[in-house]
Amino acid sequence: MNHIRRRHFISSSAFAFAGAAVSSFLPWSGASRISASTWDEAPIDPAKADLIYRTRAPRNGEPKLQKLVEHWITPTPQFYIRSHGANPAIVADAFRVSIEGMVEKPLGFSIAELIEKFPKSSCTCTLSCAGIRRYEFNKVKEVKGVAWQEGPIGNAVWSGVRLSDVLKAAGIKAEAKHVWFEGADEVVDGKTTFPFGGSVPLTKLLEEESSMPGALLATHMNGEPLLPDHGYPIRTIVPGYIGARSVKWLRKIVVSDKPSPNHFTADVYKMVYSGTPVEIDETAPIYRYPVNAALCSAEKREGKIHLQGYALPTGRKGCSISRVETSTDNGTSWTAATLGKEAGDFCWQLWSATVTIANAETDICVRATDSLGNTMPETVPWNPKGYLYNAWHKVPVSRLEF
Ligand code: MTE
Repeated sequence: MNHIRRRHFISSSAFAFAGAAVSSFLPWSGASRISASTWDEAPIDPAKADLIYRTRAPRNGEPKLQKLVEHWITPTPQFYIRSHGANPAIVADAFRVSIEGMVEKPLGFSIAELIEKFPKSSCTCTLSCAGIRRYEFNKVKEVKGVAWQEGPIGNAVWSGVRLSDVLKAAGIKAEAKHVWFEGADEVVDGKTTFPFGGSVPLTKLLEEESSMPGALLATHMNGEPLLPDHGYPIRTIVPGYIGARSVKWLRKIVVSDKPSPNHFTADVYKMVYSGTPVEIDETAPIYRYPVNAALCSAEKREGKIHLQGYALPTGRKGCSISRVETSTDNGTSWTAATLGKEAGDFCWQLWSATVTIANAETDICVRATDSLGNTMPETVPWNPKGYLYNAWHKVPVSRLEF
């Protein structure tokens, strides 16, 4: 029987997989390493050469989709990069993280001191950029920002120390409600420059279990020290929250009774519809990511099409993917996909399905539902910043390029 095994690629450009494997947690070496990237135009790290760069200065790259769904743990070479400015020049031995604001005792640590003083902790969780699938909004009306496709998402093993342990050592004051994070990078906006910053409610940071920290101060990704593009030597990881809250090159933690005034919390990562200054001021920052899914690869097998993709549950504790469905008649009827076995709190789930296409003019539609009952809608309202696109993923069969 004719057995065609030809893979599709929903985005363009060829891909060479660097073959990274998840290795065991390596203790902090204390070795000095310098990120030479002092300017946006710095060369691409060879370890990240296979990404498709939407912009190179600053660096914003996403993986080829069929590679993205080959592994539940995303190999570091396939993990997207989203940076608003140039990577800062870092001398690891001189790098310090301070904890200040509404604490009994302001503290400061070198990376080596942090690792030595606090128990090591690891978690597996998915990071997803709020601008994921933004290019879909452009089909309606152009939006500002990187025209991301379905690739700015990845699931990794993060290791470091728990933020809660560090906060408790500093002594959280009773009036504290939010924790701000500030990176060592300088973002240029017109004539001003400022560091990237994020902010997370304290309750979220303290909502944790033995297997899942409220947030991690991560020094390692997939068992290796963070690459410069991913925040070397230390970053926050906030499971379930949009990637913008997981601040790279973390140098300052401030405990406060209000959200951070940093531009990226006060103005940028907010879901607004008109974008007027009043609406921006009245709107809370985006925290959790919503349920989402994408078709990432297709393969013709004996007259049928085998599909693979990912699905992400809403970023809430205990929430998982209940079902992924595909439709070849524009949503009139749906068929359940098979969910991958690997899953976890704040993690994506891979899925596969086999469909028969009667009409070459049709779309393949995908939608996911999570255990809180959230289902991807057929459409979402346009928003000028192009955030949180999570409508049905529709891929024209003609785009499968068989
Ligand atoms: N932290 C700093 N200091 N500067 C940044 O530009 N980008 C944020 C977040 N942390 C950013 C940052 C955004 S928008 C995302 S989606 C994630 O980092 C991306 O993390 P990654 O590049 O490791 O994939």
